Amino acid sequence: MAVLRLLSMQPKMMSVIMMVMMGLVVLVAAGDTNRVYSPCIDTKVKRSDGFTFGIAFASRENFLYNHTVQLSPCDSRLSLTTYNSQIALFRPKVDEISLLTINSSSFSPDNNTGLMVAFAGRKYAARSPIAFVANSTYTVTSFTLVLEFEKGRLQNLYWKRDGCAKCPGNSNYVCLNNQDCAIKTSDCKNHGGSVDCSIGIQLAFSGTDKHLSVFNSWYEVENLRQYSLYGLYSNLRDSLTSQYNKFF
Ligand SMILES: *[C@@H]1O[C@H](CO)[C@@H](O)[C@H](O)[C@H]1NC(C)=O
Ligand SMILES: *[C@@H]1O[C@H](CO)[C@@H](O)[C@H](O)[C@H]1NC(C)=O
Ligand SMILES: *[C@@H]1O[C@H](CO)[C@@H](O)[C@H](O)[C@H]1NC(C)=O
Ligand SMILES: *[C@@H]1O[C@H](CO)[C@@H](O)[C@H](O)[C@H]1NC(C)=O
Repeated sequence: MAVLRLLSMQPKMMSVIMMVMMGLVVLVAAGDTNRVYSPCIDTKVKRSDGFTFGIAFASRENFLYNHTVQLSPCDSRLSLTTYNSQIALFRPKVDEISLLTINSSSFSPDNNTGLMVAFAGRKYAARSPIAFVANSTYTVTSFTLVLEFEKGRLQNLYWKRDGCAKCPGNSNYVCLNNQDCAIKTSDCKNHGGSVDCSIGIQLAFSGTDKHLSVFNSWYEVENLRQYSLYGLYSNLRDSLTSQYNKFF
């Protein structure tokens, strides 16, 4: 079983993060030889390195150049900083199963943005497809993101979906587009409801590191139920798992 790690982040306005990134000085954790801490700089990793990537929240038009081409948020042609977008940065350890959370107490994706894209790299820019998070009717809180590497270089980011197979079977949830379990936004705490709609993103790594070691966390996540990781984090159990239990 891989090491499990919980990373939590309050998203910031894009402009603030870009400023922080430029002057970033961070202590290197044990076993972490990757000196690149910006999501917008290319790097190669080996197992046990940290790897920095970002998740941007914005509306569809903000992710598209000339209304048609989806670019990485690192690409200045998008000028995300001038829009009302938000970004969260994470540095998970490569090949560990991590659960990322974005706390909803200061974050309301339905307000202006509603969609998210995971991204890293510049010359070798990778970005995920655009994923629906929330609008005024529905909020999706659970995601699985796969980071696919080849010889230590990030090649691809994509959302792994299970076709609503694990949607809790009750009327608080609906299956959107046959792919996401969604809860009514009006049931969320930041909209006067009782559910903590913080977003949880499970990470899995696939492919090979720069020494051609094969990443294993992918196979382990494949075998996990969509919500099962939440139960492994005792500090999250109250805020996330128990609210689902109320509905079971
Ligand atoms: C934007 O798209 C239009 C229509 O598709 C095209 O004519 C124009 O050349 C594009 N502009 C740029 C800067 O790519
Ligand atoms: C989000 O933050 C609030 C206030 O800081 C805290 O009470 C709550 O437990 C947090 N939720 C999660 C899922 O971390
Ligand atoms: C969302 O929008 C409402 C109303 O415009 C505002 O009161 C609230 O502060 C906003 N929330 C966030 C997290 O920006
Ligand atoms: C919210 O998103 C859902 C699913 O994409 C869509 O069916 C619905 O019309 C949207 N509601 C609003 C108010 O945009």
